[in-house]
Amino acid sequence: MSQPASEWDVLIRNANLARLLPQGSGYDELQQAAIALQDGKIAWLGTEEELPAQARAHSEIDAQGGWLTPGLIDCHTHIVHAGRRSNEFEMRLHGATYQEIAAAGGGIMSTVRATRAATEADLLAQSLPRVQALLAEGVTTLEIKSGYGLDLASEASMLRVARRLGEMLPVAVCTTFLGAHALPPEYAARADDYIDHLCREMLPALHAQGLVDAVDAFCENIGFTRAQTERLFQAARARGLPVKLHAEQLSDQDGSALTAAYAGLSADHLEWLSESGIAAMRQAGTVAVLLPAAFYFLRETKLPPIAELRAAGVPIALASDCNPGTAPITSLLLVLNMACTLFRMTPQEALRGVTCHGARALGLADRGSLEVGKRADLALWRIERPADLAYMMGFNPLQQVWYGGKPCRNSMA
Ligand code: NIG
Ligand code: FE
Repeated sequence: MSQPASEWDVLIRNANLARLLPQGSGYDELQQAAIALQDGKIAWLGTEEELPAQARAHSEIDAQGGWLTPGLIDCHTHIVHAGRRSNEFEMRLHGATYQEIAAAGGGIMSTVRATRAATEADLLAQSLPRVQALLAEGVTTLEIKSGYGLDLASEASMLRVARRLGEMLPVAVCTTFLGAHALPPEYAARADDYIDHLCREMLPALHAQGLVDAVDAFCENIGFTRAQTERLFQAARARGLPVKLHAEQLSDQDGSALTAAYAGLSADHLEWLSESGIAAMRQAGTVAVLLPAAFYFLRETKLPPIAELRAAGVPIALASDCNPGTAPITSLLLVLNMACTLFRMTPQEALRGVTCHGARALGLADRGSLEVGKRADLALWRIERPADLAYMMGFNPLQQVWYGGKPCRNSMA
């Protein structure tokens, strides 16, 4: 039974709901509806007709026919970092490849140098406007990876800044330890020693400080091998931490199947994902996280196997991958559009990718859909149809956000 109507904190009326139920279909629309929030959770929802006559709330809002969705979830970002790499963008336009720039000491390593040199206050100041831009488009849950420090002090700084952003702003931050992002110069030609250092020292220390919610690696011919990745996964498992992986971005390393073997939350990128990788992910319930902005920015031509993932019923999440090298983007709405134009996903699949499936990619069962008992993270949009969110480019129809039941405007002040 729902709570007595008189106790509701917030009642939003005259709204259209896109509930995006995890096992649902379409947008799970409920038109001319109302939704009640109580103690930070959704307490009741239904059509205006079903609303009990005695319904009362401390604060009643008229949504004026706008659309309510779950707050958006960006489940893969490197948003905490210092510096920019537009010089590399220019180099690529003069013919250099991403791999060549990385091999010459640029790429991830140039951001590592900038991040190591930045103070923690500076790292926070540089990252804050990027997070605010995401929030201005309805994001209420955000994953943030380390991986531009690559030593204990700098990785800890990145993760502390990530936690601090979640304290300062109306957004839930999930942290991911990505120490295995690139090989730091101190360990040149000693990748196995570096993995040992991650497993024996960095991960235990950062985890003990409460800074790690999950563990990720860059399994790639310019990153770490499958065997090295597996050793890190074992260390994560020993601490009860979930794993995820940058997998099959530039080549097929069979990283997705490895992630599935460790019951991983997600395998991300996946342009080179094989049939056997898909089967392993399906069996393990590992989410496919697609990152169309990185695909776009690197001008990749090999598409992730969308039709095959769809046919196998693997949940597909979408994320910004916000990072200075391959996805300098802070718009999740634009990611929806890219998923449709570049990957031929439907607007409905795209919206699921940043709501119910994004939640699953973070292992969060308490959000991502509009259902009684879920967190009251909501976004109200001035749109005519849910597909408008993926259709428009560079236009932000967000009207209002509720984060844990509390109203916030999230405008770019
Ligand atoms: O997700 N693939 C590895 N990591 C990032 C890129 C990082 C960078 O170039 O700085 C990615 O695309
Ligand atoms: Fe990434």
